[in-house]
Amino acid sequence: MCGIVGYVGKRISLPVLIDGLKRLEYRGYDSAGIAYQNGKGLEIRKTSGRIRDLEMLLPDPVPDARAGLGHTRWATHGAPSSANAHPHSAGGVAVVHNGIIENYRELKEALMAEGHRFASETDTEVIPQLIAKYLKEGLSLPEALRKSVGHLRGSYAIGVMSEQHPATLFAVRNGSPLIIGIGKGELLFASDIPAMLPYTNRFILMEDGQLCILNESGITLEQIERREAVPLEGRIMEVDWTASMVEKNEFECYMLKEIHEQPVTVAETLGERIDPAGTFSLKSGPVSSMAEGLRRLQIVACGTSYHAGLVGRYLIESLAHLPVEVEIASEYRYRKPLIEEGTLFISITQSGETADTLAAQREAKRRGARTLTLCNVKGSTAAREADYVLYTKAGPEIGVASTKAFTAQMAVLYLLAVDLGVHRGVLDREEANTLIAHLSGIPALIQAVLGQGSAIESLARTIVNAKDLLYLGRGLNYPIALEGALKLKEISYLHAEGYAAGEMKHGPIALIEKGVPVIVVAPDDDLFEKVLSNIEEAKARGGRVLAVTDAPGVLLSKADAVIEIPSVPPLLSPFLTVIPLQLLAYHVARLRGCDVDQPRNLAKSVTVE
Ligand code: AGP
Repeated sequence: MCGIVGYVGKRISLPVLIDGLKRLEYRGYDSAGIAYQNGKGLEIRKTSGRIRDLEMLLPDPVPDARAGLGHTRWATHGAPSSANAHPHSAGGVAVVHNGIIENYRELKEALMAEGHRFASETDTEVIPQLIAKYLKEGLSLPEALRKSVGHLRGSYAIGVMSEQHPATLFAVRNGSPLIIGIGKGELLFASDIPAMLPYTNRFILMEDGQLCILNESGITLEQIERREAVPLEGRIMEVDWTASMVEKNEFECYMLKEIHEQPVTVAETLGERIDPAGTFSLKSGPVSSMAEGLRRLQIVACGTSYHAGLVGRYLIESLAHLPVEVEIASEYRYRKPLIEEGTLFISITQSGETADTLAAQREAKRRGARTLTLCNVKGSTAAREADYVLYTKAGPEIGVASTKAFTAQMAVLYLLAVDLGVHRGVLDREEANTLIAHLSGIPALIQAVLGQGSAIESLARTIVNAKDLLYLGRGLNYPIALEGALKLKEISYLHAEGYAAGEMKHGPIALIEKGVPVIVVAPDDDLFEKVLSNIEEAKARGGRVLAVTDAPGVLLSKADAVIEIPSVPPLLSPFLTVIPLQLLAYHVARLRGCDVDQPRNLAKSVTVE
């Protein structure tokens, strides 16, 4: 995804823009650029490559420009090049854009037929060209902007500045996130909160179809279609995130930092929901009160969040005796899902902006389901559109590979399962408090597993050149096998498959030959003996078995390597079994020289289909 930053205020804008773009680097990009007022008009500097390449193009000394736009581009239309980098300009107007203009070809042809000359292959460039066309017809810039976006089909977050309005920024949101930052004597907008945290923790999340004007007189927010001013009261959100939360600090990369944050972030997520006496209140309000009337849950998500949903199914069906379906959002949204009376739709999404998950949530709502979202970003689209929200408290997750959000999602799902169990009369308070007491001990146990980093790094060296790897698990740890495989493939680019261990004999076991690494999640639970048999099957075919277990004694004679985790009640084992798999993926990726935080082809939040 592209990254957008805009600044107007008391500071010299270029350092703010560059700093903001660096805080958005995790989104992945191939070029970068900025636009600023130099007192005589608009200056644009842009290049393919990294932000440091852009910095080489900046004037020295830095001009005293107090307003500007910045952009990191993730190429969709047109190869990475200086010409295709943003900002794009025409008629004294500069534009940065995140999203896709689906009808740009017809717009470009019409504009070219009117004599407009284009300098790039991008879809974005039709925006400044349209604005320039309407400015030429005598419209004001806001009016020209309104009219221009009226022609656009697709998803877009747009930042605009012009020579005629040197100390004013304009922004439009439709389908791609755009957030306004409210500082003291300075205003910003950006694609994501981390870019603005050094300047403020007060934000307004723009909604689709809104235009925002920022200048020294403040913020004007408008619903474009209805031409209605949007009152700011009640829309300003304070987040308890700080700039240091989005720094790497002593860690080499965000992913490693976020893996190590998990004892804290799980504790934070449990925090206010468990009182010191160990009793708990999910604070889910309406969800608890609807528990008795529920007949079914539909959990829908993508990627790692989908894996959390699979764990949630085991927890909720076991503790609340409530049927749960779990489905990938991109499938759910198109299959005409059936919503019966008593169905609660639950989306799980770290970013709250994943296009497929939002579409699935909207489809469920349209079909009459009540909707709950488990989300990590306050005020995100999923949180705003769902009927109910349960926030994870993992803090900003920057690394593309999701780690701390995953364990926080499982913590909320565990609390939800207990809460539903109590309200449906399946669990009494004493049973519930015992389950919660065990959960409260998880952060310390995660910390213990994190202490195995060097042993796991040594194991990573033994699989770094593998061509194919298998991850196996059963029951609650089948989703952990899927998650471990996803972590490895998305950051090290090795081909890894997660399978239900019991499924091996139905085909995948044909993949095992001498030396194939088979990572087996083998907690000492009621399926342990079955998993031991699967280990024997893998060994008999030459597989090299790495086992994650709290029963090392038995496994030491069977597996080639053992990663030991502390013993926990079976329902809590995923919190611990996933940690070594996160670390294993991290170390393999580092050993392979991969960009752990910004793996190729991937974005942190997939806001387009
Ligand atoms: C996980 O490591 C990936 N980055 C990806 O699968 C991610 O979980 C998925 O895109 C869902 O994102 P969300 O939780 O923000 O909706």
